[in-house]
Amino acid sequence: MAVNVHQFIREKVEEIRTIVKEKKALCAVSGGVDSMVSACLAQRALGENLVALFLDNGLMRANEAQEVTESLKKQNIELQVWDVRKGFFEALRGIVDPEEKRKAFRDIFYKTLGQAIRSYSADFLIQGTIAADIVETQKGIKTQHNVLAQIGVNPALFGLSIVEPLRTLYKDDVRKVAKALELPQKVYMRKPFPGPGLATRIIGEVTEDRVEKIRLATAIVEELITGESVFQAFPVLLSDRATGILGDKRILGEIIALRVVESKDALKANACKLPWSKLEKVRDRLLKDVPGVIKVVYDITPKPPSTIEYI
Ligand code: XMP
Repeated sequence: MAVNVHQFIREKVEEIRTIVKEKKALCAVSGGVDSMVSACLAQRALGENLVALFLDNGLMRANEAQEVTESLKKQNIELQVWDVRKGFFEALRGIVDPEEKRKAFRDIFYKTLGQAIRSYSADFLIQGTIAADIVETQKGIKTQHNVLAQIGVNPALFGLSIVEPLRTLYKDDVRKVAKALELPQKVYMRKPFPGPGLATRIIGEVTEDRVEKIRLATAIVEELITGESVFQAFPVLLSDRATGILGDKRILGEIIALRVVESKDALKANACKLPWSKLEKVRDRLLKDVPGVIKVVYDITPKPPSTIEYI
């Protein structure tokens, strides 16, 4: 980063104070490094006038709400948790097209945050959108869940005035700021997890049942594939079925693609050359512990031409 991180922190705290003044702001926190850094900057700027909110939308990983609550408690920020699972599943029901899915997620996300803003009598929404989110959405590659004004969608449509303190930074810089804010390593080295959560790891319709499968698979992959050189490691539930054998009978089962990439800024990525024994371990656990899985494939495509996520 060209600017010094400490100077960046001072400037952003001042910027948030200047915009929000004596009013209240709501910070949408997912627990990723971007939203944690935004919440910490906002807390420095606003103190008691900050409300931190986690939307439990049913698309998060196992124990995520609890872990994020504990992480924020360590920063002296009390996290509000809203159970909004029903509304999010309803909004996504029947949608299979990737972009439609992303837009449906984005719209219910901001609609819900608009309700939260009113319910807490807040005037501003602070969010952790970073430069890569804006660039990819503006290029028309994919609609990231947290980009509105930059693509001509007026946040006022959702009753929102939005502040984005990290909009000029890429992931590696955000991590430097997180470190300078003395956030724990667990937070600043946390692997990126997209806002639409497990909905991005399902090809085809997002249903409660399919989310359960991919949540289980995600926990297995995250347990077995760690390490700093891995930018992201996750499974994807494909929409087709494949023929397999159970006992001496033919069955049709689920296909899981395993995606493990290295990257600096998420704009380019390469598949990690994982040891074969590691791949076999992951394959065995997925076949054993995720109901209905009959095939596991390893994705070796770089970005570009592929993207990191599947939708
Ligand atoms: P792609 O799939 O575009 O992903 O190569 C680049 C990086 O962005 C993350 N990603 C998202 N993050 N909201 C987010 O907060 C989104 O809608 C979204 N879509 C992709 C992805 O996980 C990767 O780190």
